[in-house]
Amino acid sequence: MDKFVVRGGNPLVGTVRISGAKNAALPAMAAALLTEEPVILENVPQVRDIETERKLLAAMGAEVELGYGRAQHRTTICCRNLENPVASYDLVKTMRASTLVLGPLLARMKHARVSLPGGCAIGARPIDLHLKGLERLGAHISQEHGYIEARTERLRGARVVFERITVTGTEDLMMAAALAEGESVLENCAREPEVADLAALLNKMGARIEGAGTHTIRVRGVDQLHGARHRIIPDRIEAGTFIVAGALTGGDLLVSGCDPHHLGALLQKLEECGVQVQTGPESVRIIGDGPLLAADVLTEEYPGFPTDMQAQFVALATQAEGTSVVTENIFENRFMHAQELVRMGANIKIEGTRAVVRGKTALSGAAVLASDLRASASLVLAALVADGETIIDRVYHIDRGYERIEEKLRGVGAQIRRIGELLPRRVATPLAAG
Ligand code: EPU
Repeated sequence: MDKFVVRGGNPLVGTVRISGAKNAALPAMAAALLTEEPVILENVPQVRDIETERKLLAAMGAEVELGYGRAQHRTTICCRNLENPVASYDLVKTMRASTLVLGPLLARMKHARVSLPGGCAIGARPIDLHLKGLERLGAHISQEHGYIEARTERLRGARVVFERITVTGTEDLMMAAALAEGESVLENCAREPEVADLAALLNKMGARIEGAGTHTIRVRGVDQLHGARHRIIPDRIEAGTFIVAGALTGGDLLVSGCDPHHLGALLQKLEECGVQVQTGPESVRIIGDGPLLAADVLTEEYPGFPTDMQAQFVALATQAEGTSVVTENIFENRFMHAQELVRMGANIKIEGTRAVVRGKTALSGAAVLASDLRASASLVLAALVADGETIIDRVYHIDRGYERIEEKLRGVGAQIRRIGELLPRRVATPLAAG
C-alpha cells in the first residue's frame, strides 16, 4: 500500500488545473446503461472510483473504452449487449456509488440485482430512499443474501417526495423516471451541480427533464434514449481542496479550470477567515498573505457548505486565530480526521456532531492514518504546514477521488512524494465512502 511523505513549510505558489468531477462522472457512466448506443464522456477524472465503475459496467456486458494520450480523459461506454444486470458485493463494498446502477438497470432491463453496500467509514448511509422512490415508480423490491432484487413489468411515472435530501438518490430516480411511462415529479431533490450535470447528459440522450438544480424535478418518460457526447463539469471538491491548501500555506495559488459558481459557500467562508479571494470566469486565485481568523461552519446540502469540504476546513481551522465550531449535519461519523490531526498537535474536541477547533496551534509531522477520501485530504493539507515530515498511510483512499494529487501539489511547490509499502502486510478491507 502506498504512503505519502510530506515535508511541510512551503507556501503553494503557481497554477493548478482541476480535473472533472468524480461525483458527476460516476452517475454519467451509469446513465450509459439506459441506451444501446455509445455515450462518450469527456473530462472524466483518472481516479480509482472511475476504474471501479468501469469494472462494474464491464461485468454487466458493457463495452467501456478508456481514452489514452491526448484523449486520456475520454471514456466511451456502449451498453448494446447487456447480459448480467448484477452489481456484485466485491465492487459495491469498495464504492457505494455503485448503487447508482439500480435505477437505470430497472428502467432498461426491468431487473436489477445489486449488493447492499454494508458499512461505511463516514456514517450508516442507508439506501432506503432510493428503494422507496423506485417502489413508487412500480418496482418490486426484495432483499436476500445481502442483495437487493428489483423487478418491474414497466416503470410508471409517479410523484416521489424524498423524506430527506439525497444526492445519488435523486440521480437514481431521475435515471429510472427517464424511461418510465408518463410523468414523474420528484420533490425535495438534491440541488447539487452534479445532479444538474446528469440531467444535461440525459436530455442530450433524449430524456425530457426539467428543474434539475432545483428542489422539484419533472421527468416526462420516453420510450428510448440514444447515445450522446458530454463534457463532465469540473470537480468542485478537488478545487475546494486546493483553494484551502493555498489559503492554509499562505500561498498565492491560481486554481484554474474550475467553476467559481459552484464554490460560493466555501469562498465566502474563506473571506470571513481573512483570505483574499479573486474569481475569474473559470478560476479562483487565493492569496493567503495575512493571519487566518477562526470561523464557524455548518455543513448543509448544496448550495450550503459541503460536507465533502468539512475535513479540509478543520485542517485550516487549526491554523486560524480563535475558536472555530464546525458542525457536521449530513453524516453522523465524519470526524475521523480529528484524532489524527490531534496527533499532529491540533486542539480539537468532538462534541456530538460538532468539532470545536482551538487555534492557532503549531503542527508537527507524524505518522498518520487516512480513514476516508476527504479525511485523507485534510491530513495532506495539515502536513503541508506541519514542522518536519508527515507520513500518511492508506493513501488508496485519496486515490479514489483525487487525480495525481501529489504531482499537482509538487507542481505548485509542495514537498510530497509517494512511496510503496516495503513489506506486505494484512489490512482490513477498505470501507466504501464515495
Ligand atoms: N440517506 C438516507 N437514506 C438514503 C440515502 C441517504 O438516510 O436512501 C442519508 C445519508 O445517510 C446521509 C444523507 O442522507 O446522512 C445524505 O446522503 P446522500 O444520499 O446525499 O449521499 P450520497 O448520495 O450517498 C453523495 C456523494 C458524497 C457526498 C454526499 C453528500 C456521490 C457519488 N457521493 O453521496 O461524496 O458526501 O453526496 O453531499 O455523489 C465524497 O466524494 O467523498 C463523498 C462521500
